Amino acid sequence: MKTQGYHWNVVGPLFVSLHRLTEEQYQNLFEAVDDLAERVRALGFPAPSSITEMIALAEIGEDTGNPTAEQMVENLVSDHEAIVRRLREAAVAAEKLHDVVTAGMLTDRMHFHEKAVWMLRAVVAGK
Ligand SMILES: [Fe+2]
Repeated sequence: MKTQGYHWNVVGPLFVSLHRLTEEQYQNLFEAVDDLAERVRALGFPAPSSITEMIALAEIGEDTGNPTAEQMVENLVSDHEAIVRRLREAAVAAEKLHDVVTAGMLTDRMHFHEKAVWMLRAVVAGK
């Protein structure tokens, strides 16, 4: 939601690059939420299905402010980095349980988030 909110609200000289990049990223994130929720179901657990539940489970804080384009990039970079750390722990835990399918999915997600950090940083490089 933060990525999509920034996509809508970004202004300034970085508008075009950040608007386009965040669109690609939120589309990837929404697809990933679906794949991961379905994996949770395949493992026999209920998937969170309300905004209230999702907020309660969330580890990434909301942004209700009005950040500049540079602050948006800084916030997203730090969120993606936090997700990479969490995914690494979860992938290791899945491997310990020999759940190679979940470990593989989580590793694929790490690849996306590391690439997102690189691309976001590249947008503000030299600023
Ligand atoms: Fe859009």
